[in-house]
Amino acid sequence: MFTLAHICDPHLAPLPRPSVRQLANKRLLGYLNWRRSRKAIHTRPVLDALVRDMLEQSPDHIAVGGDLINLALPREYSNALAWLKSLGGPERVSVVPGNHDTYVRVARESGIGLWDAYMRTHAGGGGFPFVRRFGNVALIGLNTAIPTPPFFATGHLDRGQLDALEKILGELGGTDIFRIVLLHHPPLPGLARWRHGLREAQALRDILSQTGAELVLYGHTHTHTITMQPSATGALPVIGAPSASSARGSGNRLARYNLFSIQHSGNRWHCEMTGRGARVAGGAVRELERRVLTG
Ligand SMILES: [Fe+2]
Repeated sequence: MFTLAHICDPHLAPLPRPSVRQLANKRLLGYLNWRRSRKAIHTRPVLDALVRDMLEQSPDHIAVGGDLINLALPREYSNALAWLKSLGGPERVSVVPGNHDTYVRVARESGIGLWDAYMRTHAGGGGFPFVRRFGNVALIGLNTAIPTPPFFATGHLDRGQLDALEKILGELGGTDIFRIVLLHHPPLPGLARWRHGLREAQALRDILSQTGAELVLYGHTHTHTITMQPSATGALPVIGAPSASSARGSGNRLARYNLFSIQHSGNRWHCEMTGRGARVAGGAVRELERRVLTG
């Protein structure tokens, strides 16, 4: 049995104090928004309690679904690297970036490039999609994060990533490999508002439908969502997780992570999801839901 934890959108707090020069762009709006509302939503105690519980479950691997940071400030990238190290080394943790990780254009080497060890094919090169193999489980990571104009949080998958994904899913399909696709933006049309959606959601949906996959994990909408997408290899669970630091809202918008237990037996895959988080704002982390997704 292989267990994968999926945790999303930590939006690490506290926010480092930006300089006036650093706010002379889209960051100013984001900073005002952080001070006005987001600061009270994304709290460190909530995130720390969730992470503590997640590490206690000793998952075999942890998938971090993007939006580690908020305004793409230089100190945020190094803070996020320290946070990733607190979860585990790159052999135990994988990351895909979110739109807040590329909030404004930042040189790769001082931006998300700091997390490269967590975003590459094991013993392979960099770039997306990355493919990480854990026995007969494959984790395929996509990068949908691009800098966008103010009031937009759209995602983008270039032709190269789409073609490569189609090839990878096709090659792994039918070989008894459990294929997990990890990305930040919702992969299907209609799961996000138009200014926030993935531009190529339709193309991605078509690929997933045609090649099949066993599980798709995303974040971005900060809402726990389950969609069963018809595909060539059966109903494909597409699971959206809320923000791991969310102290506000109710039900499906409160901080939560999902644990997937994956097992191959009798020529079939069995995948069970356990959701863990607080039932009410400020409550203790506990099991919220357990459901069989496959098998
Ligand atoms: Fe987010």
